[in-house]
Amino acid sequence: MYNSKITGLGYYVPDNVVTNDDLSKIMDTNDAWIQERTGIKERRHVVKGEDTTTSMGVKAAKIAIERAGIDKDDIDFIVFATLSPDYYFPGPGVLVQRDLGIKTVGALDVRNQCSGFVYAISVADQYIKTGMYKNILVIGSELHSHGLDMTTRGRGVSVIFGDGAGAAVLSRAENEHEGILSTHLHSEGQHAEELSLIAPGMGKRWVSDIIADNDPNDESYFPYMNGQFVFKNAVVRFSEVIMEGLKKNNLKPTDIDLLVPHQANLRISQFIQSKFGLKDDQVFNNIMSYGNTTAASIPIALTEAWESGKVKTGDLVVLAAFGSGFTWGSVIIRW
Ligand code: UT7
Repeated sequence: MYNSKITGLGYYVPDNVVTNDDLSKIMDTNDAWIQERTGIKERRHVVKGEDTTTSMGVKAAKIAIERAGIDKDDIDFIVFATLSPDYYFPGPGVLVQRDLGIKTVGALDVRNQCSGFVYAISVADQYIKTGMYKNILVIGSELHSHGLDMTTRGRGVSVIFGDGAGAAVLSRAENEHEGILSTHLHSEGQHAEELSLIAPGMGKRWVSDIIADNDPNDESYFPYMNGQFVFKNAVVRFSEVIMEGLKKNNLKPTDIDLLVPHQANLRISQFIQSKFGLKDDQVFNNIMSYGNTTAASIPIALTEAWESGKVKTGDLVVLAAFGSGFTWGSVIIRW
């Protein structure tokens, strides 16, 4: 059995900054509401034609590969987490293989929304543990902005989400006491529709239904979120899965050097911080600048934390996420 560790991190966000005031010009919302309820000040939106989910992932991946000190040809496997793929099929994993010019290694797409990066890391960790692969490229990338209802009708969802990508290279660790100590994954499909995008799909609403109805007021292809219900579940599940990871490794909340939570809502991060008695510098948040970037949020935040010197060798770093599915998970890392 081998351990895996993160050897390279990178992120990319589009240049186009969209402030809360910008949104208030196109829908009935305001800066005070958005900041008070979510902590978000601004987010990035892709300008059509300049980027896709894959191209952002590729840009983040290039940085991560370079920082890992390896060549793209050393990548043995690709794992790509997103809920906003370029195409319905094939998934973006193969597009990354093509666009980075990586040899014909396997490419896996992970569909676990806000928990996508945690799931992707867990999958990659298992392949390294068994010795099957040495270097795995893990990407989380989302292009939300052009799939949101940018009218007052959609304001409860559309002000929250932003575009961007983050990537990590997971490599075989030299030392069994460093790297990813454990990963913990959960799901509760009972609440699948509470945060969902139903159409087009082969379940309730087919492409042929949408075309036949030709209804300009059709909301079914915009994301839906039962915000308060999701919030209540998030605070419980975040706490549970962090504790589960700590207990598995005989650790306590006071052992955490840095918690990097999925950036769903600043209020959720603050709740967890206070529940675990962590200081401000022990929890990394950047939702203020990027909004919720779903599968990209943890790798973007982790990269920014690492770049600003907040992640040091020997630190106990905890990643945790909760989102649509519901799915949730944590990763316990000795850096
Ligand atoms: O990343 C995946 C996991 N996601 C989450 O964890 C998100 C969890 N949920 C949340 O973060 C919060 O529920 C939201 C930020 C989405 C919403 O905050 P809330 O405090 O739960 O607000 P609400 O949905 O209960 O809406 C309160 C009021 C409503 O008006 P009335 O009915 O009280 O008159 C909404 O219509 O705020 C109104 N509202 C808005 N007002 C201005 C909803 N969205 C907006 C908006 N601007 N953008």
